[in-house]
Amino acid sequence: MLIIGLDIGTTSVKGMLVNENGEIVFQSSEKISLISPKPGWAEEDPMQWWNATEKVLFKLSEFAHEKNEEIKAIATSGQMHSLVLVDSKGNVLTNSILWCDQRTYKECNEITLKLGGKKEVISVFGNSILPGFTAPKILWIKRNFPDILQKTYKFMLPKDFINFKLTGQIFTEPSDASGTALYDIKKGFWAIDKVKELGFNPGIFPEIIPSNGLVGRLKDDIANKLGLSPDVKVISGGADNACAALGIGVVSEGQAMVSLGTSGTVFAPVQGGEPDADGKLHFFEHVVSGEKYYMGVMLSATHTLNWFNEITSEKDLIKINECIENIPIGANGVVVLPYLNGERTPHNDPYARAVFFGMSSSHNKWDIYRAIFEGVAYGIKDSFNLIEKFGIEINDVRITGGGSKSKIWRQILANVIGVNVKTMMTNEGAAYGAAMLAYSGLNNILVEQIAEKWIKTNEIMNVNNLHAMVYNKYWKIYQKLYKKNRELFIEINKIMEEEN
Ligand code: XUL
Repeated sequence: MLIIGLDIGTTSVKGMLVNENGEIVFQSSEKISLISPKPGWAEEDPMQWWNATEKVLFKLSEFAHEKNEEIKAIATSGQMHSLVLVDSKGNVLTNSILWCDQRTYKECNEITLKLGGKKEVISVFGNSILPGFTAPKILWIKRNFPDILQKTYKFMLPKDFINFKLTGQIFTEPSDASGTALYDIKKGFWAIDKVKELGFNPGIFPEIIPSNGLVGRLKDDIANKLGLSPDVKVISGGADNACAALGIGVVSEGQAMVSLGTSGTVFAPVQGGEPDADGKLHFFEHVVSGEKYYMGVMLSATHTLNWFNEITSEKDLIKINECIENIPIGANGVVVLPYLNGERTPHNDPYARAVFFGMSSSHNKWDIYRAIFEGVAYGIKDSFNLIEKFGIEINDVRITGGGSKSKIWRQILANVIGVNVKTMMTNEGAAYGAAMLAYSGLNNILVEQIAEKWIKTNEIMNVNNLHAMVYNKYWKIYQKLYKKNRELFIEINKIMEEEN
Protein backbone atom coordinates (compact mmCIF):
# COMPACT_ATOMS: atom_id res chain seq x y z
CA MET A 1 0.00 0.00 0.00
CA LEU A 2 1.33 3.44 -0.94
CA ILE A 3 0.26 7.01 -0.34
CA ILE A 4 1.15 10.20 -2.19
CA GLY A 5 2.39 13.46 -0.72
CA LEU A 6 2.39 16.43 -3.09
CA ASP A 7 3.76 19.93 -2.67
CA ILE A 8 2.69 22.87 -4.83
CA GLY A 9 5.75 25.06 -4.35
CA THR A 10 6.71 28.34 -5.97
CA THR A 11 9.38 26.84 -8.22
CA SER A 12 8.15 23.26 -8.64
CA VAL A 13 5.47 20.70 -8.01
CA LYS A 14 6.91 17.75 -6.10
CA GLY A 15 5.39 14.39 -5.45
CA MET A 16 6.47 11.35 -3.47
CA LEU A 17 5.27 7.82 -2.87
CA VAL A 18 5.49 6.74 0.75
CA ASN A 19 4.88 3.27 2.17
CA GLU A 20 3.28 2.22 5.44
CA ASN A 21 6.59 2.45 7.27
CA GLY A 22 7.04 6.05 6.21
CA GLU A 23 9.75 5.20 3.67
CA ILE A 24 9.88 7.27 0.50
CA VAL A 25 9.99 4.81 -2.38
CA PHE A 26 9.85 7.20 -5.36
CA GLN A 27 9.87 10.92 -6.07
CA SER A 28 9.21 13.11 -9.06
CA SER A 29 8.98 16.85 -9.72
CA GLU A 30 8.12 19.36 -12.43
CA LYS A 31 9.28 22.96 -12.69
CA ILE A 32 6.91 25.93 -12.42
CA SER A 33 7.60 29.32 -13.96
CA LEU A 34 7.03 32.58 -12.18
CA ILE A 35 5.43 35.47 -14.07
CA SER A 36 6.47 38.98 -13.07
CA PRO A 37 4.58 41.52 -15.19
CA LYS A 38 5.95 44.47 -13.13
CA PRO A 39 8.71 44.88 -10.51
CA GLY A 40 7.48 43.49 -7.20
CA TRP A 41 4.66 41.53 -8.85
CA ALA A 42 4.69 37.74 -8.73
CA GLU A 43 2.10 35.54 -10.42
CA GLU A 44 1.67 31.97 -11.54
CA ASP A 45 -0.85 30.17 -13.70
CA PRO A 46 -2.81 27.67 -11.57
CA MET A 47 -3.33 25.53 -14.68
CA GLN A 48 0.46 25.16 -14.87
CA TRP A 49 0.41 23.77 -11.31
CA TRP A 50 -2.31 21.38 -12.39
CA ASN A 51 -0.52 20.27 -15.57
CA ALA A 52 2.66 19.72 -13.55
CA THR A 53 0.65 17.80 -10.92
CA GLU A 54 -0.81 15.53 -13.58
CA LYS A 55 2.66 14.75 -14.93
CA VAL A 56 4.03 14.04 -11.45
CA LEU A 57 1.04 11.87 -10.53
CA PHE A 58 1.35 9.97 -13.78
CA LYS A 59 4.99 9.11 -13.02
CA LEU A 60 4.14 8.06 -9.45
CA SER A 61 1.28 5.94 -10.75
CA GLU A 62 3.55 4.26 -13.33
CA PHE A 63 6.07 3.40 -10.62
CA ALA A 64 3.36 1.91 -8.39
CA HIS A 65 2.11 -0.21 -11.31
CA GLU A 66 5.62 -1.51 -12.00
CA LYS A 67 5.96 -2.52 -8.36
CA ASN A 68 2.44 -3.95 -8.21
CA GLU A 69 1.55 -1.60 -5.38
CA GLU A 70 -1.79 0.10 -4.83
CA ILE A 71 -2.02 3.84 -4.18
CA LYS A 72 -4.67 4.55 -1.56
CA ALA A 73 -4.58 8.26 -0.75
CA ILE A 74 -3.21 11.64 -1.80
CA ALA A 75 -2.69 14.81 0.21
CA THR A 76 -1.17 18.09 -0.89
CA SER A 77 0.74 20.89 0.76
CA GLY A 78 1.09 24.24 -0.92
CA GLN A 79 2.51 27.73 -0.93
CA MET A 80 0.48 29.83 1.50
CA HIS A 81 -1.61 32.94 0.83
CA SER A 82 -1.58 32.84 -3.01
CA LEU A 83 -5.01 33.61 -4.45
CA VAL A 84 -6.88 31.41 -6.95
CA LEU A 85 -10.26 32.51 -8.32
CA VAL A 86 -12.58 30.19 -10.25
CA ASP A 87 -16.00 30.68 -11.85
CA SER A 88 -19.02 28.43 -11.38
CA LYS A 89 -17.75 26.03 -14.04
CA GLY A 90 -14.44 25.73 -12.22
CA ASN A 91 -12.49 27.76 -14.78
CA VAL A 92 -9.56 29.79 -13.49
CA LEU A 93 -10.42 33.49 -13.88
CA THR A 94 -6.94 35.01 -13.67
CA ASN A 95 -3.34 34.22 -12.74
CA SER A 96 -2.71 33.52 -9.07
CA ILE A 97 -1.21 36.51 -7.24
CA LEU A 98 1.47 34.91 -5.10
CA TRP A 99 2.55 35.08 -1.45
CA CYS A 100 5.69 37.02 -2.46
CA ASP A 101 3.85 39.65 -4.53
CA GLN A 102 4.26 43.17 -3.14
CA ARG A 103 1.61 45.14 -5.07
CA THR A 104 -0.93 45.47 -2.26
CA TYR A 105 0.72 47.85 0.27
CA LYS A 106 -2.11 50.36 -0.18
CA GLU A 107 -4.80 47.70 0.25
CA CYS A 108 -3.12 46.47 3.47
CA ASN A 109 -3.30 49.92 5.06
CA GLU A 110 -6.85 50.34 3.88
CA ILE A 111 -8.00 47.00 5.32
CA THR A 112 -6.23 47.72 8.61
CA LEU A 113 -7.92 51.12 8.94
CA LYS A 114 -11.33 49.88 7.87
CA LEU A 115 -11.30 46.98 10.32
CA GLY A 116 -10.40 49.06 13.36
CA GLY A 117 -6.60 49.37 13.30
CA LYS A 118 -3.56 47.15 13.76
CA LYS A 119 -4.43 46.01 17.30
CA GLU A 120 -7.89 44.84 16.26
CA VAL A 121 -6.76 42.98 13.12
CA ILE A 122 -3.98 41.21 15.03
CA SER A 123 -6.41 40.18 17.74
CA VAL A 124 -8.87 38.70 15.19
CA PHE A 125 -6.60 37.33 12.44
CA GLY A 126 -3.50 36.63 14.56
CA ASN A 127 -1.36 38.78 12.27
CA SER A 128 -1.14 42.25 10.87
CA ILE A 129 -2.26 42.58 7.24
CA LEU A 130 0.78 42.02 5.03
CA PRO A 131 1.02 42.33 1.23
CA GLY A 132 1.70 38.59 0.97
CA PHE A 133 -1.63 37.64 2.53
CA THR A 134 -4.81 36.81 0.62
CA ALA A 135 -7.28 39.49 1.80
CA PRO A 136 -5.44 42.48 0.26
CA LYS A 137 -5.15 40.52 -3.01
CA ILE A 138 -8.95 40.08 -3.14
CA LEU A 139 -9.38 43.80 -2.50
CA TRP A 140 -6.87 44.58 -5.25
CA ILE A 141 -8.83 42.41 -7.71
CA LYS A 142 -12.08 44.01 -6.58
CA ARG A 143 -10.65 47.43 -7.31
CA ASN A 144 -8.77 46.72 -10.53
CA PHE A 145 -10.80 43.90 -12.10
CA PRO A 146 -14.29 44.10 -10.56
CA ASP A 147 -15.72 41.91 -13.33
CA ILE A 148 -13.42 39.06 -12.27
CA LEU A 149 -14.64 39.21 -8.69
CA GLN A 150 -18.24 39.38 -9.97
CA LYS A 151 -17.70 36.15 -11.87
CA THR A 152 -15.94 34.45 -8.92
CA TYR A 153 -17.71 31.39 -7.59
CA LYS A 154 -15.05 30.48 -4.99
CA PHE A 155 -11.60 31.65 -3.97
CA MET A 156 -9.06 29.01 -3.14
CA LEU A 157 -5.51 28.49 -1.92
CA PRO A 158 -3.11 26.66 -4.27
CA LYS A 159 -3.35 23.18 -2.74
CA ASP A 160 -7.15 23.49 -2.50
CA PHE A 161 -7.28 24.21 -6.22
CA ILE A 162 -5.35 20.97 -6.88
CA ASN A 163 -7.74 19.09 -4.57
CA PHE A 164 -10.61 20.60 -6.56
CA LYS A 165 -9.11 19.48 -9.88
CA LEU A 166 -8.65 15.98 -8.45
CA THR A 167 -12.11 15.60 -6.92
CA GLY A 168 -14.43 18.38 -8.11
CA GLN A 169 -14.90 19.33 -4.43
CA ILE A 170 -13.99 22.72 -2.96
CA PHE A 171 -12.74 22.89 0.64
CA THR A 172 -9.95 24.44 2.61
CA GLU A 173 -8.55 23.66 6.07
CA PRO A 174 -7.30 25.70 9.04
CA SER A 175 -3.57 26.00 8.23
CA ASP A 176 -4.23 27.69 4.89
CA ALA A 177 -7.40 29.53 5.99
CA SER A 178 -5.43 31.18 8.80
CA GLY A 179 -3.00 32.65 6.24
CA THR A 180 -5.70 34.59 4.41
CA ALA A 181 -6.19 37.42 6.96
CA LEU A 182 -9.90 36.61 6.72
CA TYR A 183 -10.01 33.87 9.36
CA ASP A 184 -10.81 34.39 13.02
CA ILE A 185 -7.92 32.63 14.72
CA LYS A 186 -9.71 32.40 18.08
CA LYS A 187 -13.07 31.18 16.76
CA GLY A 188 -11.47 28.87 14.18
CA PHE A 189 -13.78 30.03 11.43
CA TRP A 190 -14.02 32.71 8.70
CA ALA A 191 -14.31 36.16 10.28
CA ILE A 192 -17.66 36.73 8.57
CA ASP A 193 -18.34 40.19 10.08
CA LYS A 194 -14.98 41.46 8.88
CA VAL A 195 -15.49 39.82 5.50
CA LYS A 196 -18.77 41.71 5.13
CA GLU A 197 -17.20 44.98 6.30
CA LEU A 198 -14.71 44.62 3.47
CA GLY A 199 -17.57 44.16 1.01
CA PHE A 200 -16.51 40.59 0.10
CA ASN A 201 -19.22 38.07 -0.68
CA PRO A 202 -19.12 35.34 2.05
CA GLY A 203 -20.49 32.95 -0.60
CA ILE A 204 -17.06 32.78 -2.30
CA PHE A 205 -15.43 31.37 0.85
CA PRO A 206 -14.76 27.62 0.81
CA GLU A 207 -15.96 25.40 3.64
CA ILE A 208 -13.27 24.56 6.21
CA ILE A 209 -12.58 20.90 7.07
CA PRO A 210 -9.71 19.38 9.13
CA SER A 211 -6.25 19.09 7.51
CA ASN A 212 -6.60 15.30 7.57
CA GLY A 213 -10.26 15.47 6.47
CA LEU A 214 -11.62 13.81 3.34
CA VAL A 215 -12.06 16.14 0.34
CA GLY A 216 -13.42 13.36 -1.85
CA ARG A 217 -12.45 10.57 -4.21
CA LEU A 218 -10.66 10.99 -7.50
CA LYS A 219 -12.90 12.00 -10.40
CA ASP A 220 -13.36 9.07 -12.79
CA ASP A 221 -11.83 10.85 -15.79
CA ILE A 222 -8.76 11.92 -13.77
CA ALA A 223 -8.34 8.43 -12.29
CA ASN A 224 -8.54 6.97 -15.80
CA LYS A 225 -6.09 9.42 -17.27
CA LEU A 226 -3.54 8.90 -14.49
CA GLY A 227 -3.96 5.15 -14.23
CA LEU A 228 -5.16 5.44 -10.63
CA SER A 229 -8.13 3.82 -8.95
CA PRO A 230 -11.21 6.09 -8.56
CA ASP A 231 -11.25 4.87 -4.95
CA VAL A 232 -8.11 6.87 -4.15
CA LYS A 233 -9.01 9.20 -1.28
CA VAL A 234 -7.98 12.83 -1.52
CA ILE A 235 -7.21 14.18 1.94
CA SER A 236 -7.14 17.92 2.57
CA GLY A 237 -3.42 18.52 3.31
CA GLY A 238 -2.08 21.86 4.51
CA ALA A 239 0.08 24.96 4.25
CA ASP A 240 3.69 24.29 3.26
CA ASN A 241 5.36 25.56 6.45
CA ALA A 242 3.05 23.54 8.68
CA CYS A 243 3.47 20.42 6.52
CA ALA A 244 7.25 20.84 6.52
CA ALA A 245 7.19 21.02 10.33
CA LEU A 246 4.99 17.93 10.56
CA GLY A 247 7.36 16.23 8.12
CA ILE A 248 10.20 16.42 10.67
CA GLY A 249 7.96 15.66 13.63
CA VAL A 250 7.46 19.18 14.99
CA VAL A 251 3.98 18.58 16.35
CA SER A 252 3.76 20.00 19.87
CA GLU A 253 4.65 22.87 22.15
CA GLY A 254 8.29 22.81 23.25
CA GLN A 255 9.48 21.80 19.81
CA ALA A 256 10.65 24.07 16.99
CA MET A 257 11.64 23.78 13.39
CA VAL A 258 14.44 25.99 12.13
CA SER A 259 14.53 26.14 8.37
CA LEU A 260 17.73 27.54 6.87
CA GLY A 261 16.73 28.20 3.29
CA THR A 262 16.98 31.35 1.17
CA SER A 263 14.96 32.82 4.00
CA GLY A 264 15.22 31.46 7.54
CA THR A 265 12.19 30.52 9.58
CA VAL A 266 11.51 29.48 13.13
CA PHE A 267 8.29 27.53 13.55
CA ALA A 268 7.11 26.82 17.10
CA PRO A 269 3.80 25.02 17.83
CA VAL A 270 1.71 26.22 20.77
CA GLN A 271 -1.33 24.89 22.59
CA GLY A 272 -3.80 27.75 22.74
CA GLY A 273 -1.58 30.79 22.60
CA GLU A 274 -2.21 34.44 21.89
CA PRO A 275 -1.29 36.45 18.81
CA ASP A 276 1.83 38.62 19.09
CA ALA A 277 0.29 42.05 19.75
CA ASP A 278 3.24 43.74 18.01
CA GLY A 279 2.69 41.58 14.93
CA LYS A 280 6.38 40.64 14.78
CA LEU A 281 5.68 36.91 14.84
CA HIS A 282 3.17 35.25 12.56
CA PHE A 283 0.46 33.26 14.32
CA PHE A 284 -1.25 30.58 12.23
CA GLU A 285 -3.04 27.23 12.62
CA HIS A 286 -0.89 24.08 12.51
CA VAL A 287 -1.97 20.99 10.55
CA VAL A 288 -1.97 19.17 13.90
CA SER A 289 -5.52 19.48 15.14
CA GLY A 290 -5.92 22.02 17.96
CA GLU A 291 -2.40 23.42 17.64
CA LYS A 292 -1.30 26.81 16.42
CA TYR A 293 2.20 28.05 15.79
CA TYR A 294 4.35 31.13 16.02
CA MET A 295 6.61 31.78 13.09
CA GLY A 296 9.50 34.18 12.75
CA VAL A 297 10.88 34.85 9.28
CA MET A 298 14.31 36.27 8.49
CA LEU A 299 14.50 37.25 4.85
CA SER A 300 18.14 36.49 3.99
CA ALA A 301 19.52 33.31 5.56
CA THR A 302 21.38 31.15 3.01
CA HIS A 303 20.72 34.05 0.64
CA THR A 304 23.39 36.05 2.53
CA LEU A 305 25.88 33.22 2.09
CA ASN A 306 25.03 32.80 -1.60
CA TRP A 307 25.33 36.54 -2.15
CA PHE A 308 28.79 36.58 -0.54
CA ASN A 309 29.82 33.55 -2.61
CA GLU A 310 29.00 35.57 -5.72
CA ILE A 311 31.24 38.37 -4.48
CA THR A 312 34.16 36.12 -3.56
CA SER A 313 33.59 33.71 -6.50
CA GLU A 314 33.95 30.99 -3.88
CA LYS A 315 32.00 27.92 -4.98
CA ASP A 316 33.48 25.22 -2.81
CA LEU A 317 31.12 24.90 0.16
CA ILE A 318 33.21 22.17 1.77
CA LYS A 319 36.22 24.49 1.78
CA ILE A 320 34.17 27.35 3.23
CA ASN A 321 32.99 25.08 6.03
CA GLU A 322 36.51 23.83 6.74
CA CYS A 323 38.02 27.30 6.73
CA ILE A 324 35.53 28.83 9.13
CA GLU A 325 36.15 25.99 11.62
CA ASN A 326 39.59 27.53 12.12
CA ILE A 327 38.19 30.95 12.97
CA PRO A 328 37.43 31.44 16.67
CA ILE A 329 33.85 31.97 17.83
CA GLY A 330 32.87 35.60 17.46
CA ALA A 331 34.70 35.73 14.09
CA ASN A 332 37.57 37.77 15.51
CA GLY A 333 35.18 40.57 16.33
CA VAL A 334 33.31 40.79 13.02
CA VAL A 335 29.53 40.94 13.39
CA VAL A 336 27.20 40.75 10.39
CA LEU A 337 23.61 41.95 10.25
CA PRO A 338 22.33 39.84 7.33
CA TYR A 339 19.57 42.27 6.31
CA LEU A 340 20.37 42.44 2.59
CA ASN A 341 16.72 42.91 1.59
CA GLY A 342 15.28 44.42 4.75
CA GLU A 343 14.08 42.22 7.61
CA ARG A 344 10.71 40.78 8.65
CA THR A 345 11.20 39.30 12.17
CA PRO A 346 11.81 41.00 14.54
CA HIS A 347 11.93 44.43 12.85
CA ASN A 348 9.37 44.45 10.01
CA ASP A 349 11.69 46.96 8.38
CA PRO A 350 11.94 47.12 4.58
CA TYR A 351 14.69 49.76 4.86
CA ALA A 352 17.07 47.68 7.00
CA ARG A 353 20.28 46.74 5.19
CA ALA A 354 23.23 44.44 5.83
CA VAL A 355 26.01 45.69 8.09
CA PHE A 356 29.51 44.22 8.24
CA PHE A 357 30.80 45.56 11.51
CA GLY A 358 34.12 45.51 13.32
CA MET A 359 36.41 44.82 10.38
CA SER A 360 40.08 45.78 10.41
CA SER A 361 42.95 45.13 8.02
CA SER A 362 43.75 41.99 10.03
CA HIS A 363 40.55 40.27 8.89
CA ASN A 364 40.28 38.02 5.88
CA LYS A 365 37.32 36.58 3.99
CA TRP A 366 37.00 33.56 6.28
CA ASP A 367 36.35 35.86 9.24
CA ILE A 368 33.55 37.39 7.20
CA TYR A 369 32.23 33.97 6.22
CA ARG A 370 32.15 32.92 9.86
CA ALA A 371 30.47 36.19 10.79
CA ILE A 372 27.77 35.50 8.18
CA PHE A 373 27.05 32.05 9.65
CA GLU A 374 26.95 33.59 13.12
CA GLY A 375 24.86 36.59 11.99
CA VAL A 376 22.18 34.32 10.56
CA ALA A 377 22.19 32.35 13.82
CA TYR A 378 21.75 35.61 15.81
CA GLY A 379 18.77 36.45 13.58
CA ILE A 380 17.24 33.03 14.33
CA LYS A 381 17.86 33.66 18.04
CA ASP A 382 15.88 36.90 17.73
CA SER A 383 12.83 34.82 16.75
CA PHE A 384 13.41 32.34 19.60
CA ASN A 385 13.65 35.27 21.95
CA LEU A 386 10.26 36.60 20.87
CA ILE A 387 8.62 33.16 21.03
CA GLU A 388 9.98 32.52 24.52
CA LYS A 389 8.30 35.74 25.69
CA PHE A 390 5.01 33.84 25.30
CA GLY A 391 6.13 31.46 28.02
CA ILE A 392 7.09 28.70 25.58
CA GLU A 393 10.16 26.77 26.60
CA ILE A 394 11.74 25.27 23.52
CA ASN A 395 13.84 22.18 24.19
CA ASP A 396 13.62 20.20 20.94
CA VAL A 397 14.96 22.03 17.87
CA ARG A 398 14.93 20.28 14.51
CA ILE A 399 16.67 21.85 11.58
CA THR A 400 15.95 21.58 7.87
CA GLY A 401 16.66 23.47 4.63
CA GLY A 402 19.82 23.78 2.51
CA GLY A 403 21.86 25.47 5.27
CA SER A 404 21.21 22.54 7.62
CA LYS A 405 23.67 20.46 5.59
CA SER A 406 26.52 22.47 7.13
CA LYS A 407 27.62 20.82 10.38
CA ILE A 408 29.47 23.90 11.57
CA TRP A 409 26.40 26.06 10.96
CA ARG A 410 24.28 23.64 13.00
CA GLN A 411 26.85 23.77 15.81
CA ILE A 412 27.01 27.56 15.73
CA LEU A 413 23.21 27.68 15.83
CA ALA A 414 23.00 25.31 18.82
CA ASN A 415 25.51 27.44 20.73
CA VAL A 416 23.85 30.73 19.78
CA ILE A 417 20.29 29.69 20.72
CA GLY A 418 21.44 27.57 23.66
CA VAL A 419 19.41 24.49 22.65
CA ASN A 420 20.67 21.24 21.07
CA VAL A 421 19.95 21.11 17.35
CA LYS A 422 18.82 17.87 15.67
CA THR A 423 18.71 16.73 12.08
CA MET A 424 16.19 14.04 11.23
CA MET A 425 16.60 10.89 9.12
CA THR A 426 13.85 12.02 6.76
CA ASN A 427 14.27 15.59 5.67
CA GLU A 428 12.11 15.84 2.60
CA GLY A 429 10.10 18.97 3.23
CA ALA A 430 6.42 19.72 2.96
CA ALA A 431 5.41 16.87 0.61
CA TYR A 432 6.41 14.37 3.31
CA GLY A 433 4.21 16.14 5.87
CA ALA A 434 1.38 16.02 3.32
CA ALA A 435 1.94 12.26 2.96
CA MET A 436 1.61 11.96 6.75
CA LEU A 437 -1.73 13.79 6.57
CA ALA A 438 -2.86 11.43 3.80
CA TYR A 439 -1.94 8.44 5.96
CA SER A 440 -3.67 9.98 8.96
CA GLY A 441 -6.89 10.66 7.03
CA LEU A 442 -6.86 7.26 5.36
CA ASN A 443 -6.36 5.25 8.55
CA ASN A 444 -7.90 7.59 11.08
CA ILE A 445 -4.68 7.85 13.08
CA LEU A 446 -3.43 11.02 14.78
CA VAL A 447 -0.53 12.68 12.96
CA GLU A 448 1.35 12.82 16.28
CA GLN A 449 1.29 9.01 16.39
CA ILE A 450 2.51 8.77 12.82
CA ALA A 451 5.33 11.22 13.61
CA GLU A 452 6.32 9.08 16.59
CA LYS A 453 6.60 6.02 14.34
CA TRP A 454 8.09 7.52 11.18
CA ILE A 455 10.40 10.35 12.28
CA LYS A 456 13.79 9.38 13.69
CA THR A 457 16.69 11.54 14.81
CA ASN A 458 19.81 11.50 12.68
CA GLU A 459 22.39 13.66 14.46
CA ILE A 460 22.39 16.01 17.46
CA MET A 461 24.64 19.05 17.87
CA ASN A 462 24.98 19.62 21.61
CA VAL A 463 25.31 23.06 23.14
CA ASN A 464 28.75 24.02 24.37
CA ASN A 465 27.86 26.16 27.38
CA LEU A 466 31.09 28.15 27.36
CA HIS A 467 30.61 29.08 23.71
CA ALA A 468 26.96 29.86 24.37
CA MET A 469 28.00 32.44 26.98
CA VAL A 470 30.38 34.15 24.57
CA TYR A 471 27.80 34.16 21.77
CA ASN A 472 25.30 35.77 24.09
CA LYS A 473 27.59 38.78 24.39
CA TYR A 474 27.98 39.05 20.62
CA TRP A 475 24.23 38.68 20.11
CA LYS A 476 23.74 41.77 22.29
CA ILE A 477 26.13 43.70 20.01
CA TYR A 478 24.14 42.38 17.03
CA GLN A 479 20.90 43.69 18.53
CA LYS A 480 22.44 47.09 19.28
CA LEU A 481 23.80 47.30 15.74
CA TYR A 482 20.27 47.36 14.35
CA LYS A 483 18.95 49.79 16.94
CA LYS A 484 21.81 52.20 16.41
CA ASN A 485 21.53 52.09 12.62
CA ARG A 486 17.75 52.06 12.17
CA GLU A 487 17.50 55.81 11.51
CA LEU A 488 20.49 55.69 9.16
CA PHE A 489 18.87 53.00 6.99
CA ILE A 490 15.91 55.32 6.44
CA GLU A 491 18.12 58.36 5.90
CA ILE A 492 20.28 56.71 3.27
CA ASN A 493 17.23 55.39 1.48
CA LYS A 494 15.81 58.93 1.35
CA ILE A 495 19.05 60.31 -0.13
CA MET A 496 19.08 57.57 -2.75
CA GLU A 497 15.46 58.27 -3.66
CA GLU A 498 16.19 62.00 -3.99
CA GLU A 499 19.26 61.36 -6.11
CA ASN A 500 17.68 58.84 -8.47
C1 XUL B 1 4.62 32.13 4.79
C2 XUL B 1 5.00 32.44 3.38
C3 XUL B 1 5.85 31.50 2.63
C4 XUL B 1 5.07 30.67 1.66
C5 XUL B 1 6.07 29.96 0.75
O1 XUL B 1 3.95 33.16 5.43
O2 XUL B 1 4.61 33.46 2.84
O3 XUL B 1 6.61 30.68 3.48
O4 XUL B 1 4.24 29.76 2.32
O5 XUL B 1 5.52 28.97 0.03
